[in-house]
Amino acid sequence: MFNLILFGPPGSGKGTQSEKLIARYGLKHLSTGDILRSEIAAQTPLGLAAKSLMDKGQLVPDEVVIEMINVALENNPQAKGFLFDGFPRTTAQAEALDKLLASKNSAINVVLALQVGKEELVVRLLNRGKTSGRSDDTNEAVIRSRIEEYEKKTMAVADYYRQYNKVELVKGEGTIDEIFAALSSEIDKRM
Ligand code: AP5
Ligand code: MG
Repeated sequence: MFNLILFGPPGSGKGTQSEKLIARYGLKHLSTGDILRSEIAAQTPLGLAAKSLMDKGQLVPDEVVIEMINVALENNPQAKGFLFDGFPRTTAQAEALDKLLASKNSAINVVLALQVGKEELVVRLLNRGKTSGRSDDTNEAVIRSRIEEYEKKTMAVADYYRQYNKVELVKGEGTIDEIFAALSSEIDKRM
């Protein structure tokens, strides 16, 4: 198995690049944000509980997303590897993910961390908010709260994986194709 974490702040291009990477490398895409939004659309109890937090730009509880990933791993025993997008977002989630993968005799191979300046993130997300229908994109205060959550709780995930030498920084500004080429070259070195 080849397991990759595509890491970066809100708006750094994780979803955009994930689509291209799964097509090239045949990995299974696991985006906790996408799973949560489909729970909201289906109006499940989990979705309804998550929605109020997501609308404020706050993280949902670790137990909720860890269980979602647990289920997704169980449901995809034939996968040749996973691309994690938007997960893990706290050190507790990273530790839980390592345990889940270890129980399947697997591990994270690399964490590719997209580097994008804060003001560029805000511009991208406000722009996407015009058409995305995502309630957390429409309001600049909520966008800034998401970035703050990232700085307070999620940046530590990179430090966690740095102790295992698994983190590679990748420039996340430029054209989508340039960034895809840079990500692909890091994957090709390790696959
Ligand atoms: P999530 O869905 O993960 O959203 P996010 O992290 O805020 O990131 P985005 O999806 O907004 O950005 P992205 O990096 O995917 O960028 P994209 O490619 O779309 O999470 C949403 C919420 O769910 C969280 O706030 C939290 O409440 C909850 N949640 C999810 N996972 C959780 C977890 N593990 N634990 C707890 N809570 C969790 O690109 C953004 C825009 O930029 C697009 O319009 C795109 O077209 C454009 N763009 C992309 N690349 C470029 C480029 N190179 N140049 C110019 N524009 C570009
Ligand atoms: Mg995304």
